[in-house]
Amino acid sequence: MTPELLEQGAQRMQQRLAALEAGRSQTASGGRSSGFSRPKAGESLDLAHGRILYLEDVSVSFDGFKAINNLSLDIAPGELRCIIGPNGAGKTTMMDIITGKTRPDSGTVFFGSTIDLLRHTEPQIARLGIGRKFQKPTVFEQLSVFENLELALRIHKGVLSSLRFRRSAAQSERLLEVLETIGLQTSLQRQAGLLSHGQKQWLEIGMLLCQDPQLLLLDEPVAGMTDQETERTAELFLGLKGKHTLVVVEHDMAFIKAISETVTVLCEGSVLAQGPLSQVQADPRVIEVYLGR
Ligand SMILES: Nc1ncnc2c1ncn2[C@@H]1O[C@H](COP(=O)(O)OP(=O)(O)O)[C@@H](O)[C@H]1O
Ligand SMILES: [Mg+2]
Repeated sequence: MTPELLEQGAQRMQQRLAALEAGRSQTASGGRSSGFSRPKAGESLDLAHGRILYLEDVSVSFDGFKAINNLSLDIAPGELRCIIGPNGAGKTTMMDIITGKTRPDSGTVFFGSTIDLLRHTEPQIARLGIGRKFQKPTVFEQLSVFENLELALRIHKGVLSSLRFRRSAAQSERLLEVLETIGLQTSLQRQAGLLSHGQKQWLEIGMLLCQDPQLLLLDEPVAGMTDQETERTAELFLGLKGKHTLVVVEHDMAFIKAISETVTVLCEGSVLAQGPLSQVQADPRVIEVYLGR
């Protein structure tokens, strides 16, 4: 494409954004755009073995207490995996290990079949295409919805320090797509601090999406949400599945029921049971340690 065409495209995008900013929620085409959901890291990610994330015999102890105990886990590309289990089972610690925040004492952690995550730092792992959503929303409260997303895009592109950041047509398109995905297209001028708890969580998910992650780790994303927000989040996740791989830790069983394919039950740092929700719910060991309480 010529620079002129790119510039024209960027201008059209700016107009569409301006129209959105003026309160009209429909994009000019009225439909969803395609072609911008290809994650960057995917180019080097080898999925030949049919798994995007692979943990084998992972263990970590804190002061002699085995928080993760010979944990082995396999996630397929595009999967939406739910992880449940009692408090202290090691769910958050597992995410800490995948994202490089915590180093295991032993074991193997691979992203695709060639990227050894234990050889990468936390920022490197984020750049490889693993996005993480912590329990509490961490949006920039003083900035608008739109500014938060644009900032995420700039961080992703490494142009944070550049004063004259100009969004390309593709980037503007991506912002629009993300806004639509998270359902905040009518709130883009709103200050993030004024959003409801659920909206803040969606915005943070949107910020992660601006970074085109292949794999998204979400720790208790619907905690504190209203029932309606929880339902909306289920729809959001079902829409993300396939384009991204999602690993979701939750206690809300109605939410798990709405989104789950395979459910993994973690207990005392390893997998206690795994399968469709109906199967793990009927498992006496799961009932004993988690569901029956
Ligand atoms: N950095 C840490 N230092 C010491 N103990 C920790 C640390 N992180 C987690 N733990 C302990 O490991 C266990 C598992 O915690 P966590 O992974 O947060 O469980 P979950 O998310 O399943 O509730 C808990 O007993 C917790 O206290
Ligand atoms: Mg936790």
